[in-house]
Amino acid sequence: MLKIGIIGGSGYVGSELLRLLLLHPEVEVTMVTSRQTAGEYIFNTHPNLRGITQQKFVPMDIAELSKNCELVFTATPHGGSVNLVPKLLEAGLKVIDMSADFRLKNPADYDKWYGWKHAHPELLKEAAYGLPELHRQEIKNARLIACPGCMATATILALAPFVKAGLIENNRVVADVKIGSSGAGSKPTIASHHPERFSGVRPYKVIEHRHIAEVEQELNNLTSEPVTISFTPHAVNMVRGILSTIHVFPKNQLALKDVWKTLRGQYEGEPFIRFVKYLKGAYQLPDPKVTVGTNFCDIGFELDPHANRLVLFSAIDNMVKGASGQGVQCLNILMGIDETTGLKSTGFHPM
Ligand SMILES: NC(=O)c1ccc[n+]([C@@H]2O[C@H](COP(=O)([O-])OP(=O)(O)OC[C@H]3O[C@@H](n4cnc5c(N)ncnc54)[C@H](OP(=O)(O)O)[C@@H]3O)[C@@H](O)[C@H]2O)c1
Repeated sequence: MLKIGIIGGSGYVGSELLRLLLLHPEVEVTMVTSRQTAGEYIFNTHPNLRGITQQKFVPMDIAELSKNCELVFTATPHGGSVNLVPKLLEAGLKVIDMSADFRLKNPADYDKWYGWKHAHPELLKEAAYGLPELHRQEIKNARLIACPGCMATATILALAPFVKAGLIENNRVVADVKIGSSGAGSKPTIASHHPERFSGVRPYKVIEHRHIAEVEQELNNLTSEPVTISFTPHAVNMVRGILSTIHVFPKNQLALKDVWKTLRGQYEGEPFIRFVKYLKGAYQLPDPKVTVGTNFCDIGFELDPHANRLVLFSAIDNMVKGASGQGVQCLNILMGIDETTGLKSTGFHPM
């Protein structure tokens, strides 16, 4: 059993890590830290874990973590991991970081997109970008894994096959993203307050969302023609889920069979990629509701000959494939065990 610690276990990503790891057959969660709720039962904060664990939150103590754990998940906010992770690595721990602090390779991108100078640029090259479908080999041998952003995950997975195959105009890529409220974490703000948020569709960070940086980084790794993404998120009336609807323009007219061949060529055998394009039923294209509680990324498409447009749809649960499930998938790869271990849940229907 691999001994695991979770830092920031009282937050939403910590909650999902616990839900998945407490039932994972190959690991033992030995320490779960929280500064606010240390000493309290975990199930008081995460009521879905009643009857599953009697563990309590503990204060953050690196010496204790290094004594009791071999690997630590840092489920801390952006800017909260950058100084913590180097200390954990120094203490001999492996780290899977859920924040954005080690996702970008170019230190200058932190000044540009996050507004702070990266204090440990030497670790950026070393960190594996934790998207298994594109970085499985690096994840296998990593000491530090930087799990991707949730909206970035959905968007990259839909676009990667087409960018890699050179089929689309890389400077005309428009991602219109819808996200549920859990994407903003567990700390309330005025924007997340129920009367303000409920029943709305609110565009936010319309031209400057930080996930643009990692989407462009990852897609530019796949091509020599620079990719520019026009990316606009919307806060919608869901708790969980992301739908990324992406409009791209093929260089030459595409037939259905070309699109299928491109998708299958990239994702054949991937355990968590499902293609969703059906002619019957209520769920003919990806709908995040169907992915809730699962580690699946559902990808679908439609060809629009009128506007010579290919519309891609990519749906995930932001808390699972967009965060904790992806982290556990990386953990499985790192441990050299079946990638789906602890992640074989179906979604709910109806819900
Ligand atoms: N929510 C999502 O859908 C999602 C998806 C992908 C990635 N992420 C990323 O995952 C990370 C966690 O997100 P979340 O939604 O779980 O946020 P959250 O609900 O706000 O939880 C963060 C937790 O970290 C702890 N914390 C805060 N500052 C800390 C510090 N300086 N040192 C140690 N612990 C600290 C807090 O607990 P205490 O105050 O009790 O210590 C808090 O419970 C973030 O970086 C987020 O961007 C989130």
